[in-house]
Amino acid sequence: MTNLNNKFIGNEKKYLIETLKSKTSFVKKLETKFSKKSKISYSIAVNSGTSALHSALKALDVGYGDEVLIPAHTVIMPTLVTLELNAMPVYVDIDPNTFNICPRNLEKKITKKTKAIIAVHMHGLPADMPAIMQIAKKNNIRVIEDAAQCLFGKINDKYVGSFGDIACYSFETKKHICGFEGGMITTNNEKFAKKARKFAGLGYQTLTGKSSLKQKLPNYFRSPEYKRHSSLGLNYRMNEPTAAVVLAQLENSSKFVNRRIKVAGLFLKAIKNCHWLIPQFVPVNYKNVYWTITLKYYGDKYLGLSWKRFLNLYSKEISESFYAGLAVVPEETVLKNIKEIKKVLPIYNKCNYCKTLKSCIDTNKPYVCTNAYLVQPRLIQLKANQRNIKEVKQKALKLEKFIKRVESKFNNKNYNVKFI
Ligand SMILES: Cc1ncc(COP(=O)(O)O)c(C=O)c1O
Repeated sequence: MTNLNNKFIGNEKKYLIETLKSKTSFVKKLETKFSKKSKISYSIAVNSGTSALHSALKALDVGYGDEVLIPAHTVIMPTLVTLELNAMPVYVDIDPNTFNICPRNLEKKITKKTKAIIAVHMHGLPADMPAIMQIAKKNNIRVIEDAAQCLFGKINDKYVGSFGDIACYSFETKKHICGFEGGMITTNNEKFAKKARKFAGLGYQTLTGKSSLKQKLPNYFRSPEYKRHSSLGLNYRMNEPTAAVVLAQLENSSKFVNRRIKVAGLFLKAIKNCHWLIPQFVPVNYKNVYWTITLKYYGDKYLGLSWKRFLNLYSKEISESFYAGLAVVPEETVLKNIKEIKKVLPIYNKCNYCKTLKSCIDTNKPYVCTNAYLVQPRLIQLKANQRNIKEVKQKALKLEKFIKRVESKFNNKNYNVKFI
């Protein structure tokens, strides 16, 4: 369980108590503040990042048989919501240095059926949005930015979330700001905002891009003839106590973001001269907000020390652990079980040639996701969240010394290393 002691440092408790007393809507307040902070016209609060993604795809009319381009190395949620809509996830290789979706590979995967791209800003680093948007515009494809790991990341002073057609955020516990669970959809497009809000709000006819359920309803609302629901939808609404906590968190968001950047700076300084720990590459004018500090491990090649052995030594010496990279998405167990998927999702019954979702995606297209498969087993993710700066300084110092010790002990002088 994450230690939340230095997470709730603002008005969380005060606002939570207010939700029990007051008639003001914290959901509304949160949406207004989120729009203002991220410089975007419409914000729609929902109950998770996953429901934000689902609603965003619905808002863009993604449905049966459409193809959605998704980075091959990311979380599973963009895939799950695409599958839920009976659309086809098509995996795009990543850039081996930024670990984000690679625009050159993106272009190769576009077909007549491509409806949308989900550009995920991985580990806190913005994806190459200028290039992605250029390709999307040329091919008339919509773009969803998944900014769940990249709150207030920037490219050239422009916030992520304001490049694409619609953006999604998550407020689960480990994110930059948290409400235990929660999410947000943002857009500058009124039509998409209305569609997303209506889908996430049971299709109530009074909903618009700006106005949620708590609003003055027309007098005829009480009439027996009044019809409430004008479109299909689900209940993905954020609740008031969650909105109260997320609002208080948002008020301190700069502190949370800056602390992660500071923590990352200390660890990155410690590994600066190390040839076998290569940090996620941050292009010029990109602001990485370091959801995690992500590195590629080459100690196997340089030192003959496997990833797992390094983890063991690191844990003992630094008295903390690190995480591996997530599995390449089509390698996830659930996506290998195409039989199960076919039972519930009709589109996949038409897909006779596929035994697994991976082969379904890769055999009918000439380009496979080589970088994702090469990078994934090398990844190391250090925790940037919830850290005490004094303690981090000590750990970073320990790490610097540890690297030197490991090098002197294991260095096999094999510098014939091929980088990915
Ligand atoms: C990049 C990314 N997208 C989507 C999600 C889904 O968010 P949630 O867990 O709030 O549903 C997450 C978080 O877990 C995430 O990291």
